[in-house]
Amino acid sequence: MALAATAAGMLFGAPAHADPCQSGETVIRFSHVVTPAGNPKGDAAARLAARINAEMDGRACMQVFANAQLFDDDAVMEALLLGRVELAAPSLAKLEAYTLKYRLFDLPFLFKDAAAVDRFLGSEAGGTLLGAMRDLGFRGLAYWNSGLKQFSANRPLLLPADAAGLKFRIQPSDVAEAMISALGGTALRLPFRETRDALASGQVDGQENTWSNIYTQRFFAAQDGITETNHQLLAYLLVTSESWLNSLPGATRDQFLAIVAEVSAEANASVQRIERENRDRIVAAGVPIRALTSEQRQVWVEAMRPVWERFEGDIGRELIDAALDANR
Ligand code: LMR
Repeated sequence: MALAATAAGMLFGAPAHADPCQSGETVIRFSHVVTPAGNPKGDAAARLAARINAEMDGRACMQVFANAQLFDDDAVMEALLLGRVELAAPSLAKLEAYTLKYRLFDLPFLFKDAAAVDRFLGSEAGGTLLGAMRDLGFRGLAYWNSGLKQFSANRPLLLPADAAGLKFRIQPSDVAEAMISALGGTALRLPFRETRDALASGQVDGQENTWSNIYTQRFFAAQDGITETNHQLLAYLLVTSESWLNSLPGATRDQFLAIVAEVSAEANASVQRIERENRDRIVAAGVPIRALTSEQRQVWVEAMRPVWERFEGDIGRELIDAALDANR
């Protein structure tokens, strides 16, 4: 077993029998914050590890550390540069300290549906954006989509005015904060893993996340129901450090990148199914789900228009137009 693998296992309690790493292999540690399975990112990370551990056996191995057990999203980018972890997939919303371009993905009601998201992520403009943090030593390998977000609170939300005066947990993101202010609410930036307790204790009244995150984290438990707003994308950047990638022998790097590309395509093709399954589980748990009429939806869209105006300069009109083109 490689030294780094042993140390990480001892420190963070990874069970010895689960360690796929042997002496001499390049150890790829993947740190993320969601559950190890049952959601788009957890499943994709597990699939990536399974492929690498089977197909690169003897040369490389992957260990996955889920549930923020190794690093939280606020620390993982620095950990990549320090060589304490080799792969991460933070949400694009959490990367605004490194580039303002990814604010594009947080514009409310930007994409009309999942197909438009896929079209943009696969477009030339989407591909160019993968390299937005290269000057800082990061290499974006792929986007991992995770679905659209839904609002919930401890009282029914049908119109933006229903959110006035409520406190919502948000990801650390200025765009998310502006979105909540546009609703007349207040925003609290909290790490993902603290959100369930914050809802249960009443520290916050509401949240916004995907069906998969709402189900796997039981965010619905302290809420009055979920409103199907589909208001904002949750997508991740599968990211590594330029220096680690460049340190790999050519053949190892090529095989690793080929597996990453295949797994990413499969993962993105599975998102809608996983999201639907978790929505069904929430329904089966007896949680009311409120659909918006098209008139109600239009009121949400209008309420959030100031958010676009505020961040257009950071993102650039050309990029926004390229994303809007994907809706056609
Ligand atoms: C969140 O903090 O709500 C998400 O970024 C968590 C995740 O990685 O899906």
